Amino acid sequence: MPNIVVVGAQWGDEGKGKVIDLLTERTDLVVRFQGGNNAGHTVVVGGREFIMHLIPSGILHRGKFCIIGNGVVVDPAVLLEEIEGLRKRGIEIDHNLGVSDQAHLIFPYHRALDKLKEARVGPGKIGTTGRGIGPCYTDKAARVGIRVADLLEDDLFRRKLRMNLEEKNALFSKLYQAPTFQFEPIYEEYRGYRERIAPYVINAPMVLNRAVAEGKSILFEGAQGTWLDIDHGTYPYVTSSSATAGGACVGTGVGPTRIDQVIGVVKAYTTRVGEGPFPTEFPPPLMEQIRSKGKEFGATTGRPRRCGWFDAVLVKQAILVNGITEIAVTKLDVLDDSPRVSICTSYRLGGKILESPPAAIDLWGKMEPVYEEHPGWLMDTSQVSCFEDLPPQARRYLKRLEDLLRVKISIVSVGSKREQAFHV
Ligand code: IMP
Repeated sequence: MPNIVVVGAQWGDEGKGKVIDLLTERTDLVVRFQGGNNAGHTVVVGGREFIMHLIPSGILHRGKFCIIGNGVVVDPAVLLEEIEGLRKRGIEIDHNLGVSDQAHLIFPYHRALDKLKEARVGPGKIGTTGRGIGPCYTDKAARVGIRVADLLEDDLFRRKLRMNLEEKNALFSKLYQAPTFQFEPIYEEYRGYRERIAPYVINAPMVLNRAVAEGKSILFEGAQGTWLDIDHGTYPYVTSSSATAGGACVGTGVGPTRIDQVIGVVKAYTTRVGEGPFPTEFPPPLMEQIRSKGKEFGATTGRPRRCGWFDAVLVKQAILVNGITEIAVTKLDVLDDSPRVSICTSYRLGGKILESPPAAIDLWGKMEPVYEEHPGWLMDTSQVSCFEDLPPQARRYLKRLEDLLRVKISIVSVGSKREQAFHV
């Protein structure tokens, strides 16, 4: 099995968890490379639903080694809660989990800053998950972040925590007129985490590269999606990490020459959570219909997801910036009751036709999507187990996506259960 990166080619929530679960059977290691507990990867196994926020969903398979890479930001309370929650449900977590000593830690002041920043900007807010992700990556880039390795060294940890609190408390009191944070309670809380996390801490680049040298295969589990990527997304309505395939190298310490394939995951339509432009967003009646059929509510925050038609312009660009070699299409069954299905093939802006979106975010609101319409299939596809058994209109819809995207569709998913997916 080759080394494969799995990324979202839309705005996240494409169903990557399910695709990763399918591919994990044939892989040896699974590694998360960016994001944090803003992610929520849903996997249904044997009728039981698991929502993973930090631990790679590969942990649900016995004998796979799962790693939280250096590019991930780790909220230790969430990590420990997730470990305990999985154990209670009979999932073994022991020598099968590793946490990079270079991963950055989320602190209570990051969560507070995330919420205060959003409240302060008001209508222009990003609509973050409020988990402290942005402020933690801000500290990383500002070179004041506290990493897992720092937590293990008491003197270093004390020093860095004090320095951070001094700076953050000035912000809380002066800019936000908000309560400040005391050193001792945070120090004690995190000292408690130290011993519990220490057994999992590894030198992840060493472990991963040794595995490559031994001929083992690695699955790189992306979180969020291309259009939420800090560089390639709808900036500033993005997350703070590299959710594109390049992030897999940076966020794990495995070089680009070791990656064999990049699988892009897309929904058969489009969704987005939080603020920001969304050219193919449905009008209200269709929005409610697809949202309820597709259970389109955030796995992390429970927020209703915005839904719209498939946007081939965005996915085409995602294919370019990720070097996507194959596509997995999920939730095809959600379109089963639609008498017609539309695909956005370009945008119209001030009399011009655009084949790719502009970088300036204000122009997005002025663009009109150009659609082509296809007849729906009006048949239940949720029990279909091979491409040939799909209704002809559904096959034509997928073939049209392949033609537009110029990439092969290799997996189709027609429901949340492990069995409701097939290779093409
Ligand atoms: P943050 O990552 O919490 O800073 O949020 C920034 C933006 O990314 C917001 O629009 C969030 O709704 C969105 N976002 C973050 N994580 C996910 C995810 O896993 N799925 C979908 N959207 C996400």
